[in-house]
Amino acid sequence: MKRYPDAPEFTGLNAPLGEEYEVPDLAIEGRIPDDIEGVFFRAVPDPAFPPFVEDGAAVLSGDGMISAIRIAGGKASFGIRYVHTERHKAEVAAGRALFGKYRNPFTDRPEAKGLDRSVANTTPVWHAGRLLMCKEDGRPYRVDPRTLETMGRYDFDGKLKSQTVTAHVRVDPESGELFFYGYEADGLASTKVAYGVVDRHGTLTSEQWFDVPYCAMMHDFTITKNYALFPVYPTTCDAKRLQAGGDHWVHEMDRDSWVGVIPRYGSVTGMRWFRGPKGVSCYHMMNAFEEADGRIHFDQCLSSVNAFPFIQRASGLNVAPGETGARLERWTIDMSKSSDRVTATVIGPPGDFPVIPASVQGRPYAHAWMLTMNPQMQGPPVAGGPVGAMFNMLLRLDFAGKPPQALALPPGSCFNEPVHVPSAAAGGEGWLLTVVDSQTGPSDFKHAVWIIEAGNVSAGPVAKAAIPHRLRPQVHGWWVGAGELRRA
Ligand SMILES: [Fe+2]
Repeated sequence: MKRYPDAPEFTGLNAPLGEEYEVPDLAIEGRIPDDIEGVFFRAVPDPAFPPFVEDGAAVLSGDGMISAIRIAGGKASFGIRYVHTERHKAEVAAGRALFGKYRNPFTDRPEAKGLDRSVANTTPVWHAGRLLMCKEDGRPYRVDPRTLETMGRYDFDGKLKSQTVTAHVRVDPESGELFFYGYEADGLASTKVAYGVVDRHGTLTSEQWFDVPYCAMMHDFTITKNYALFPVYPTTCDAKRLQAGGDHWVHEMDRDSWVGVIPRYGSVTGMRWFRGPKGVSCYHMMNAFEEADGRIHFDQCLSSVNAFPFIQRASGLNVAPGETGARLERWTIDMSKSSDRVTATVIGPPGDFPVIPASVQGRPYAHAWMLTMNPQMQGPPVAGGPVGAMFNMLLRLDFAGKPPQALALPPGSCFNEPVHVPSAAAGGEGWLLTVVDSQTGPSDFKHAVWIIEAGNVSAGPVAKAAIPHRLRPQVHGWWVGAGELRRA
């Protein structure tokens, strides 16, 4: 019998499950639209063994599981399997946890020495017919999109030099190229960042390295048609702290934030750095795009402090969830001027998990979706995920002047990050797929995939597919259309 700590990371919605299974035919309520045909891949962390060290960041270290919700002909099926990382295999063989604190090998058991520490639990990335399970602390693991079997660690046919690859890549909608980066590219607490470009056929064509002003958690980045933008917020790492068995991340309120900008195909030696406000934090960027006059707009789910409670604790900070100053903020950078400052404009409410149509990546865009907390909520949000509270409202934000649309869940229910499915009909806005968790008892939950008309989210789901098993919270997902899967 495995005994997990009686802590928020391991109880309620976060309770470890560790089940690999298939459900061939999900019960459907409503009607799944005909143009939804493909697979919704989801990254779901699930710690296979109880920890042997106390670690506030344990919620980030759950073993990666890859889940697939397959939809065709109005029917849906479900599958979930562990990513068989080096770490997971070693722990299964030992029958216990071998790896200690989040991104601190100095806290590992001796048997873990020399093994890959990544749990591949953050994003299923699809590109050039390959499915890669990514986490920013290591290299991706390739997974078979049909069987969900792990094929091994992936290094772009031996070409990759960086030890890490982000879980937040960007795919250009016209060229089909994959843009990625890896921070702490040559080891723990390093300021080295690798910037890579992969062509539409999956060949790594460029990898350049540059230094950031300090070693920071670089969770996401953006591209525009001509530039790549690398934001740096002051959640920092220190080698001495790691060697002493401490936390990987501490947030520093008195440090500047930065955005590094380079032409997408240019040399990193020409990188320009723009200074943002002190102490701010952001996990996810919505999008970025250029104006004809040389300005670049960069839209991000920003807050005035790192929102993760365990990072605040490690930093001697204690900011209540409602007081983090969260907002959707646009930073404008003028490439035609010599100023090194960003101009900040609030363009939306607090929230996270921004979603845009893949077709407007790096381009001007008229609308987007994200998750937020219902300001009129009667009762507390569902406890779960790294922040400790799950979002309960889905927003459609319109940047062309129309009012926002909202879909609020009843108390005890929450959204996981949606994926966008384009419409087969010209001019259609497509669909959002999201897993909704609903609490039915102190430790009991029901789960269903909701299918929502993307241009009319307030109307609620047009269909729901029930998943007859308990699920842990998902991190990120990726939609792969049936045509792309067939071509692969
Ligand atoms: Fe993320």
